[in-house]
Amino acid sequence: MSQAEEIKSRLDIVEVIREYIQLKPVGVNFTARCPFHREKTPSFVVSPERQIWRCFGCQKGGDVFSFVMEIEGLSFIETLRQLAPRAGVQLQSYNPQETSVRNRLLDAVVWAVKYYHKVLLETPEATNAREYLKKRGLSEKIIAEWQIGYSRESWDDIYNFLKTKGFSEQEIFLAGLAIKKDNGPGYYNRFRGRIMFPINDIAGNPVAFTARVSPEREATEKMGKYINSPQTKIYDKSKILFGLDKAKNAIREAGAAIIVEGQMDAISAHQAGFINVVASSGTALSSDQIKLIKRYTDNILFSFDIDAAGQVAAERGVEQALAQEMNVKVIQVPGGKDPDECIRRNSDDFRQAIERAQSVVDYYFDKTFLNLDLNKIEHKKRAAAKLLHMVNVIASGIEKDAWLRRLADALEVNEQALRDALVKTNKKRSGQTAAAPQTQGDKELSVSHSQLLTESLLALTLKFPEHLSYVINQISPAVLAEELNRTFYKNLVIYYNKINSDPNSFSLDNFSVWLGNVTASEQELASLRDLADAIILLADKDFYEINAAEAKAEIAKILRQLKRKHLIKKMLGIERGLEGAEQAQDGVLVKEFMDQFKIIADEVRRLDE
Ligand code: UTP
Ligand code: MN
Repeated sequence: MSQAEEIKSRLDIVEVIREYIQLKPVGVNFTARCPFHREKTPSFVVSPERQIWRCFGCQKGGDVFSFVMEIEGLSFIETLRQLAPRAGVQLQSYNPQETSVRNRLLDAVVWAVKYYHKVLLETPEATNAREYLKKRGLSEKIIAEWQIGYSRESWDDIYNFLKTKGFSEQEIFLAGLAIKKDNGPGYYNRFRGRIMFPINDIAGNPVAFTARVSPEREATEKMGKYINSPQTKIYDKSKILFGLDKAKNAIREAGAAIIVEGQMDAISAHQAGFINVVASSGTALSSDQIKLIKRYTDNILFSFDIDAAGQVAAERGVEQALAQEMNVKVIQVPGGKDPDECIRRNSDDFRQAIERAQSVVDYYFDKTFLNLDLNKIEHKKRAAAKLLHMVNVIASGIEKDAWLRRLADALEVNEQALRDALVKTNKKRSGQTAAAPQTQGDKELSVSHSQLLTESLLALTLKFPEHLSYVINQISPAVLAEELNRTFYKNLVIYYNKINSDPNSFSLDNFSVWLGNVTASEQELASLRDLADAIILLADKDFYEINAAEAKAEIAKILRQLKRKHLIKKMLGIERGLEGAEQAQDGVLVKEFMDQFKIIADEVRRLDE
């Protein structure tokens, strides 16, 4: 049995898919609303018996791997890596040529987690940090579970450590662990003298860190109490929730998720037995983060700090949740403390606060009316504006009606007047609500088709250098979309000539090194290298399983489409010139444009044959 088969045989597709969407039993199967396209009625079906899934709306379907690949946007290998621990299968180490950039970065962060954790537990430099965590009530067990660590006051220790583990400077940088030196070459540690909290993805792989300043430096630190890893190929902060890997099962069992602001709030809550708690890390929840929670429950409780920043963040998160038809409640922690302080003093207080959580309607009505005198018409207007704004973002019609009735009562106005006002504000905003959930489709649409074709072409060529000569003979850089892609391709052609057009001596690493020698501007070099990384990732994602012959066919198809688009663009230019020549009644020029037009039209026809 292959490793993939073994993993598959040990997993239940229903259990895996249930981690992402809510499944309802119907007969021998399960159904759900399809996560891959928008629909109101469920056409997504999972068969436990055959261990497959299929959506009859968008026609997608497959096995447990294809589901995880699709929903997480992972390559096949990355999916194996993600599912292996669940299946209790130890993946044999794979060929480094085959592992993607993403996997390398994940490995680097795993090593960093181990390193920082060991430093916290064992080194004298971390004595203060250890004592501080103890003083804050964290047990050894919870420190181990969350793999909390400490970064030394050093400019290069983690950097040197990862180098001994075989990671390149570039990889350490791309993993977000090092910063480029301003003057001169090289990098230095991003995190120094901080308590390190690993941030995990939903499967429990560490992908980033959030780092709290050492207590002794808290008063003088200029960089901020917490600093985080930057966005990387493995860390998109809007798509990760701190603690969700540990909270997800409890969220499903409890039928609700509690959102707190701070990492320490979440850890403290877990230690006290509130395991359905995740942290938003001090920002408003994004619509993607709400979607993550929605995989497990429709009920969400916000417990945000009472300060202004906390309130604004809470409000934006609430709007996102309402826009996705979540049932929202608000927890008010007694005494205006943060959940961590409340729990440390008396965890029963927090338990009661959860039980007393107010529905978000009550909460906003109370909060809005608190400082207003509804006998004054000005104040009524203000209340209406504020609350209608909230009504506007609510996706569920029933919920919307309930708010409107309530508001009409409170303001003693006619409900219809409020509805009219709502329509007016919507018109003003040209029909788009601010919190309307962004679908992936929208994002994809904003990238042009030529751009997608160009990226696919580059991905295929880098993955199959044996087709480089073919591609180079077929098209010039001008045919590709986007300046950066054209520059990249131009360089690729020059480099390929330099290595005597020998595909066997082509490697992306060498090409990247060579780019360093020929590219004058640092900025351009960085963009080109970023592009190379992106293209290789794309190749892993989209063309993982195809062979060289299939790749060639795909390349031929893309070349044809790109050429066609390029020719059509030229034809449009000529048409414009022709119009000008006709207006100027310049017969010679008209004839010239007509001839050119005909030549190109013939080329297009040949392409289509
Ligand atoms: P707080 O300032 O309320 O900190 O910021 P806290 O969570 O109570 O932290 P402790 O208890 O002193 O350790 C709330 C959250 O805002 C983010 C962090 O996620 C923090 O947990 N934050 C705060 C930052 O990202 N950067 C900062 O400089 C401060
Ligand atoms: Mn705190």
